[in-house]
Parts: sequence; C-alpha cells; structure tokens
Amino acid sequence: MKTTAMPSTSTPVAHNAMPPPSAASTARSSRVAPHSHIKGLGLTPEGLALPDGSGFIGQTNAREACSVVVELIKSRKFSGRALLLVGAPGTGKTALALAVSHELGVKVPFCPMVGSEVYSTEVKKTEVLAEAFRRAIGLRIKETKEVYEGEVTELTPAEAENPLSGYGKTVSHVIVGLKTVKGTKQLRLDPTIYEAMLKEKIVVGDVIYIEANTGAVKRVGRSDAYASSYDLESETYVPLPKGDVHKRKELVQDVTLGDLDAANARPQGGQDIMSVMGSLMKSGRTEVTEKLRKEVNKVVKGYVDQGVAEVVPGVVFIDEVHMLDIECFTYLNALLESPMAPTVILATNRGNAAVRGTTDVVSPHGIPVDLLDRCLIVKTDAYSREQIAKVVQLRANVEGLKLGPGVLERLAEEGERGSMRYAIQLLTPASILSGLAGRNQIEVDDIGEMNELFLDAKTSARNIGSDGGFDGGRM
Ligand SMILES: Nc1ncnc2c1ncn2[C@@H]1O[C@H](COP(=O)(O)OP(=O)(O)OP(=O)(O)O)[C@@H](O)[C@H]1O
Ligand SMILES: [Mg+2]
Repeated sequence: MKTTAMPSTSTPVAHNAMPPPSAASTARSSRVAPHSHIKGLGLTPEGLALPDGSGFIGQTNAREACSVVVELIKSRKFSGRALLLVGAPGTGKTALALAVSHELGVKVPFCPMVGSEVYSTEVKKTEVLAEAFRRAIGLRIKETKEVYEGEVTELTPAEAENPLSGYGKTVSHVIVGLKTVKGTKQLRLDPTIYEAMLKEKIVVGDVIYIEANTGAVKRVGRSDAYASSYDLESETYVPLPKGDVHKRKELVQDVTLGDLDAANARPQGGQDIMSVMGSLMKSGRTEVTEKLRKEVNKVVKGYVDQGVAEVVPGVVFIDEVHMLDIECFTYLNALLESPMAPTVILATNRGNAAVRGTTDVVSPHGIPVDLLDRCLIVKTDAYSREQIAKVVQLRANVEGLKLGPGVLERLAEEGERGSMRYAIQLLTPASILSGLAGRNQIEVDDIGEMNELFLDAKTSARNIGSDGGFDGGRM
C-alpha cells in the first residue's frame, strides 16, 4: 500500500488513478495469533538451542533436532525424508514447525496443512496431498529479458471516440515517460498495458519495468527521490535505475511447481510456460491432471538442464497427521520416494492409536509402521513450572497485558496441573475481568475467578463419570 502523498507535478495524472489513502488507514493493529511470539528456533551460531531465544523457551532437544533438519534442508540433503514431531498436546509441536519455516526464510516454500484437509467431497484425498507436495517445490528462474525500466515521469492515457457504442470514450494508447540515471524515454503503449499499470496502481514517481515482448508490467517500488520522513511505512524505496531505459535485464522469479500446474490448467492455456508465469493468477479449481504435471515436469527439467532454473525443495508440514487414513499414508510413502520430493514434517499428539481406514491396525502415533520407518522422530517434552511461567510472561508481553504480583506463579501452577495451553488461554479472559473491575493489571483473584468459570481438560475429564455421563446429574 502506498502511503506517500502524490507529488505535485505538472504532468496530468491518470484520471482514474487511486487517490492516496489517508494516514489513518495505515494505523492497523495486528492480530495476535497463538504463535505470534515465536520468531524462530532461537539458536546460537553453532546450532545450539538457547534456553530462551526467538520466543522459544526450553524444549532444547527438539529445537536442536529441528536445527539439524534446517541445516539439512538448506544444504538440500533432506528432500524425500520426513521428520515426525511427537508429544503431548500443547508441548509446542506446531510452534516448532512454524519456527522451522521462519528459519528457512521466505525463499524456501513452506506449505502447511492439517491432516483433515484431505477430506473433501470435491477433490480426491490423494490429490490434496499431491498438490501440497507440488506447492512445496520451488523453482527459481533466472531469465534475461528485454525490458523498459525507469521511474515514471509521465502517465497520460490518450482517449478516442468509442467505435462500438457511440457513448463514452476509450483509451487508444498511453504515453509513458521513463527516466533512468542515463536518460529519459517516452513510450507510446497499448491500452492493455495501461490496464496492467492501473492494476499495479502505478503512479508518477514509481520505478517500474515493462517486459518488451509480453507487455507485463512490474512495479519495483517508489523512487527514493520521493522518500518521505515517516519512520514506519510499508512502501519500499528504490534508487533510480542505472543504464538505458531500454535494456536487457536479469530477472529472478520464484514460483512453485503448484503455481505452474495451476497456471497451465487454466482453459486458455497452451501458451509457452514462461509467458504464463508472468500472469500467474489465483485460478479456480480446474483439473490438474497427472499428465499435465508430467508435462510441467518435463519443461521444468529442460530449464534446469539449460541452467535457466534452479529447483528449491521446500517443506510440507502436515499437522495432526493421525487424521490421515491408510490410503493417504501409502500415497505419502510413494510421494516421499518420488525423485522431486520436498522435506516432510509431520506432527501428532497420539500415542498408540488405530490407523484410520483400518479396523484392526493399531500402531504408534496412528501411523503405519512402514511410514514410521521412513521418519526421524523427535519427541517434545513436558514443561516445568518455571518454563511455563516464562512462556506465559512472553504471551502477556505479546498481548500487552500487565500481571500483578503472584499472578505468574499462579498461572504456572495452573499450567502444570492442566496444560501450558490452558495457562496461556486464561490470560485474555482474566484481562477482561480485570478491565471490568477497572484495573489495568491482572490480579491473582482474576485467575481464581476464571478457574471457577472455566475448566481445564483434565478437570473436565475427571468430572465425567465412568458411565460417560456427568456426575452432577443428567445431560
Ligand atoms: N517452548 C515454547 N516456548 C514458547 N512458547 C511455546 C513453547 N511451546 C509451546 N508454546 C506455545 O504454547 C501454545 C501451544 O503449543 P502448540 O500449539 O505448538 O502445541 P502442540 O504441540 O502443537 O499441541 P497439539 O498436539 O494440541 O497440536 C502455543 O501458543 C505455542 O506457541
Ligand atoms: Mg498442534
């Protein structure tokens, strides 16, 4: 989003260009998600887990194991293998997987899903898995392309009578001025390019490039001549491009195989794969067939052989993996052994459980033994009272809550008795209660009252009698 005001220039600005948004619209408060305090694995440069780093407390063994996996993924030695995180509910399995994705950075594709996502009435179960795997394989394409690049100095659509309706006018062409350090150039461009520019919300002062043979327009950022003095802004400022306006430029694009499949499954497909990439869009669920995937693979392989593209294997994370059934598990085995497989991270909180889709197969974690055999297994441990206290404090900071004396100890105690998640969850309602009482910090009494209103999982389970009903009376 652009927050800078439009500079006043003599050039007329496109009549239907977006008005600059008011400053108030930039003042957003971000939502606090259950894992927003997790920023990474919190490791020393040697790969050892800090007792308290990047929002992670304790769980050092599991974090170090994950750090090894991160290293292996980065050096591309872990594709086609699987890491299985097991442990009791609330011990940080999901948090660990998210931390791994933070550590890998944004360039490595990370495709998270939950086991139950495979159950859809529209798509086959195995299809959902196959798609997730495709979305986790990145492709970095380096291309040298002929482009026009520069800072927009002029953007004037020329209008003509509409030949079709007699009313109104249409844009016949657009005059675009581009400036670089070396010079300026005025281009007369097709109205479709003008539309693309409107879509990218390009205004005078932006640095853009236009691909010469496809007409694709890309906004690089705002020219730093227009940089404002705000401290916090979502705008990226870029220097005035060097060289001529018309030149050959090396472009790097990151796409996933899933993107390519989707782009080519669109009905108007049939174009060259590279040109389709420029116009990647979220398409509806048109069928991606196995045949199409093979074709995409073939083209991709061609580009890799030519040195144009580089494959970046990413990560598929399947949370609550015990929700998959036996068909999915066998398919997962096959996917893991395919030549272009990403790294797979699985997480489950089950002990011995029946494998879904079978009647009598009970296996550890509800996962068939042949898949278990392919996994490296990492266990997350239960937390001590001090560790729970630290996490609760972290959460209180993230949520902007103040804790009165003794509250932390009390919550840690609750966490030890119930679970870490229960202790964390008590924070927000307790803060509402203290707010109602006109206080700005949470007191021990608030927690006590909360405990009367809400039950933790273990207490609730105890309340249920052995006959499955409630002790206190009938349902
Ligand atoms: N070591 C830790 N340091 C900081 N926060 C943690 C840690 N472990 C867990 N948390 C936080 O505790 C909450 C519960 O953890 P998480 O959701 O990762 O548990 P889980 O193991 O995935 O549980 P489940 O098996 O029920 O899915 C989350 O808000 C998480 O961010
Ligand atoms: Mg979880």
